Amino acid sequence: MNTLVVGAQWGDEGKGKVVDVLTETADVVVRCQGGDNAGHTVEVDGQTFVLHLIPSGILWPGKCCVIGNGLVLDPVALVSEIRSIQSRGIETEGRILVSEGAHLVLPHHRVLDVHSEKAKGPGKIGTTGRGIGPAYEDKVSRRGLRAVDLLRADEFQRKLGQRIEEANRLLHRLGLEPLDAGGITEEYLAAAQFLRPVITNTVLWLHDALAKGKSLLFESAQGTFLDVDFGTYPYVTACNTTAGAALVGSGVSPKEIHHVVGCVKAYTTRVGEGPMPTESSELTALLHAMGREFGSTTRRARRCGWFDSVLVRYARLINGFDRLAVTNLDNLDCLDEIPVCVAYNLEGRRLEYPPTALEDWWNCQPVYRVFPGWKEPTGQARSFRQLPKPARDYLLGLAELVGAPLGLVSVGAGREKSFWVE
Ligand code: IMP
Repeated sequence: MNTLVVGAQWGDEGKGKVVDVLTETADVVVRCQGGDNAGHTVEVDGQTFVLHLIPSGILWPGKCCVIGNGLVLDPVALVSEIRSIQSRGIETEGRILVSEGAHLVLPHHRVLDVHSEKAKGPGKIGTTGRGIGPAYEDKVSRRGLRAVDLLRADEFQRKLGQRIEEANRLLHRLGLEPLDAGGITEEYLAAAQFLRPVITNTVLWLHDALAKGKSLLFESAQGTFLDVDFGTYPYVTACNTTAGAALVGSGVSPKEIHHVVGCVKAYTTRVGEGPMPTESSELTALLHAMGREFGSTTRRARRCGWFDSVLVRYARLINGFDRLAVTNLDNLDCLDEIPVCVAYNLEGRRLEYPPTALEDWWNCQPVYRVFPGWKEPTGQARSFRQLPKPARDYLLGLAELVGAPLGLVSVGAGREKSFWVE
């Protein structure tokens, strides 16, 4: 059985945690898009791991992890992430594979990402500054370097030198410091040498695994409303983040996906700029005061708001999820009442699905239905039945509004704090 986990909001839905739970019954975990802009946090036995490029499945001994062709990957960052988890006792030998087709994030991508954000001033997107946009730009303009290029040291050195020379001419025109070609080449060649044994044709490897009856788990990064097609454009990331991206980003056929799990928080968060109809300063202040909702990649404070079923209803259509995984329920434990957005009011019109034009997004007013709070801790619950009745009603209410059955609930960071709903 092959399952895809996808984010149904603006990322940070707790996909790492959900993937971690699902990995128990999978053989291979596959990342298919994005790059180290992602930060998937998983807590195992009291230890917290934040994974940026390596699939969360690495935390289960013996499971294989594939970094698919759809990613843009900084080889230096990947080596440092592998070394860091090795130093914490995680065995990685023979467990990580990198697609030959994955595109590389090069140092000038990061510089250009940061520069273009500065140049946009108040109109900035609020990117993670990891060079993701410029790397995907190079991919579609057909001048990118790929992981396969790391396999031929001399040729790679030549191509990298050429890219840096071109980048330095551009940086000069923009009034920015040139890059140190020598230092970068040395760093990238060292990373290439480290990664060479794990770079392979992962399409063939995955199909071989399927033929042997292995089960695959696809781990999406970011969320539906950061998708370059379906998100709050232009306040989005630079790739597709929805279900289809798992296929093009891995080379696995749609016929092989049996289940799609849509992952949401029990409320909504967003990092970076852009519209967010249910944003609430009250909820933001409350969660920040609890020390919650600071980004795992950039440590930026996340914007927080009420659960928005208009978003998630649309995400269900796009991704076709047949189960909803709701995380971070415990963060709402102290509230008397919890508003949930059931529709938008756009200049007198009721919308059940989000608009497309940015101007309309900004003007959408949430229509709320208020659920009673439960006012007791849920962190100790280990089953749906153990949750207070108002919490169960809240979760079932969300599932009904979205139109997908409730699958998994999580009430805290540890692996034991997520449970299935029968
Ligand atoms: P970029 O992906 O760094 O170009 O950033 C584009 C937008 O996506 C910004 O608003 C980021 O904050 C957001 N973003 C990118 N990756 C993530 C993620 O993993 N979680 C949440 N937001 C993200």
